Amino acid sequence: MESSSFQHDRALLDWQIELGATEAICDAPVNRYEVPAAVPKPAAPQAPTSPMVRTAAADPVAVAESMAAAAQSLADLRDALAAFDHCALKKGARNLVFSDGVPGAKVMLVGEAPGRDEDREGRPFVGRAGQLLDRMLGAIDMGRTDAKAPVYITNVLPWRPPQNRDPKPDEIAMMKPFLMRHIELAAPQVLVIVGNWSCQALLGKKGITRLRGEWTQAAGLPALPMFHPAYLLRSPEFKREAWADLLSLKARLRDG
Ligand code: URA
Repeated sequence: MESSSFQHDRALLDWQIELGATEAICDAPVNRYEVPAAVPKPAAPQAPTSPMVRTAAADPVAVAESMAAAAQSLADLRDALAAFDHCALKKGARNLVFSDGVPGAKVMLVGEAPGRDEDREGRPFVGRAGQLLDRMLGAIDMGRTDAKAPVYITNVLPWRPPQNRDPKPDEIAMMKPFLMRHIELAAPQVLVIVGNWSCQALLGKKGITRLRGEWTQAAGLPALPMFHPAYLLRSPEFKREAWADLLSLKARLRDG
């Protein structure tokens, strides 16, 4: 009896983990027996007006494009992201992770997506990978709070994917209009594309081992793909390449 109850509980737990649960507790208790005030009737399915017309209401990318285009400042853009309800990641995230560092800095880094620590704090790159990133930037006298050589940091996705899984193509596609507008509004001189998924979003291709260290163009700006610091934590033997890329970034800024 006891063992079958254990197996049952274990199966339930595995199922929740598969659904993306990563925390055992909430901040406030949830009464799952509470009866909702009224059960809304399911809406009748709408007939499509025309199969050829991409309506803004039906198409998350079109909604994102129009919301992003309407943002006239970084604060507007943050509000627009907070109001964007088409990305399922938002439902599982604790916080919107928008940016850190100094808006208007010459260098803008674009990472992939928040992890657990970033989701908790609402700031990008604050976990172990972020601490390594700070040390890497510090080695070339830059930093997110550096008065002389600040950087600005964001991610392709502003919400944490469950269990840090890879971003899905539709998630990248619907968040990309916000990222492009973010780059326009932050107006950096150069981009640093951190990791494979950021290359996918900004360059339309992956293969960071081949792409890293080669200056290219993204969002109309000079852009340098680099290894992700989380990858460097797992494979420290590639820190030599990362160091070469940091020196290349420093030289590019020095030479204009
Ligand atoms: N990895 C990222 O790409 N971004 C973060 O903010 C944290 C980890």
